[in-house]
Amino acid sequence: MKQNILITGANGEVGHGLITALAKKANLVTLDIKPLDKKLASLVKKTYTGDILNKKLVKEIFRRFDFETVYHLAALLSTSAEKNPAFAQTINVTGTVNLLDQAILQSQKRKKIMKFVFPSSIAVYGLPDLPTKEKTKKIKEIEYLNPITMYGINKLYCEKLGIYYSNYYQLLANSKRYIDFRCVRFPGLISADTMPTGGTSDFAPEMLHAAAQGKNYICFVRPDTTIPFMAMPDAIKSLLQLTESPRKNLKNQIYNVDGFSASAKEIELIIKKSYLKFKMSYKVDKMRQRIVDTWPTDVDNSLARRDWNWKPEFNFINTFTKYLIPSAKLIYSGHKH
Ligand code: SER
Repeated sequence: MKQNILITGANGEVGHGLITALAKKANLVTLDIKPLDKKLASLVKKTYTGDILNKKLVKEIFRRFDFETVYHLAALLSTSAEKNPAFAQTINVTGTVNLLDQAILQSQKRKKIMKFVFPSSIAVYGLPDLPTKEKTKKIKEIEYLNPITMYGINKLYCEKLGIYYSNYYQLLANSKRYIDFRCVRFPGLISADTMPTGGTSDFAPEMLHAAAQGKNYICFVRPDTTIPFMAMPDAIKSLLQLTESPRKNLKNQIYNVDGFSASAKEIELIIKKSYLKFKMSYKVDKMRQRIVDTWPTDVDNSLARRDWNWKPEFNFINTFTKYLIPSAKLIYSGHKH
């Protein structure tokens, strides 16, 4: 029998990729505040449109389905979160608690471990200044955990919550583990199919999608701004690989995953090689610049490599030449949907 998998935030860009990748293998149940993209509707068993804060709804979903795995993707990204920090805290943290509560109740009832997979972010890091950022290069999981954004703080706290529900819930009064929490810290993600909303790494995907639509673009960070990025197929691959890894191989619960590291200027130049007419200028948004200046230049992937053999398929060049640019060309010329 196929397993049931719950995906929250299913309408987002990671949700799109994950649904497509898992549709054949599992019965997918999705939850999102917006109705699920019509293109995805035929791939899922049941879709719920509603709020992660609606406890009654979340309870009902867990009453109707037994889940082997939960992918909790629903969140408000960093720029959106800064516009309304208290609301972000509610969505990002209370939403996660609502889900973890139902997950542990169900797994206790079934006496079966449930995998709870969570995308965290480079936003959990907070480098104090640019010279330190320059010097640090590939950051390790335990370094500089001093986020300056509500989103970063929420993600870091949710990592801790996941570890709590997984290893210490009620100090494991009955000494059994019911939640198997696994987490990747994503860099900025770039997808050819979808645009992110409200993130601060969005300048890279926005550049690409503007160029592909024949539009000009004004970039909201300095040309030298460098953070790690990842092509969406690698993001999906990392989630699936981490989910499928035997628990005994996982010495950690939180893993950096890497793709490539590039500056805004380098991304502009590689896009211009394919879109000769693309025009771009820079107008720095101070708040967003301040955020990315605290994010690392790159991440150290050695734990993920050691425990589950992580290796990105896409580097800087082939992310653009083999994935983003050809796919975006197809999408915007109307050949793919
Ligand atoms: N892409 C996210 C953001 O910019 C970071 O995880 O908010």
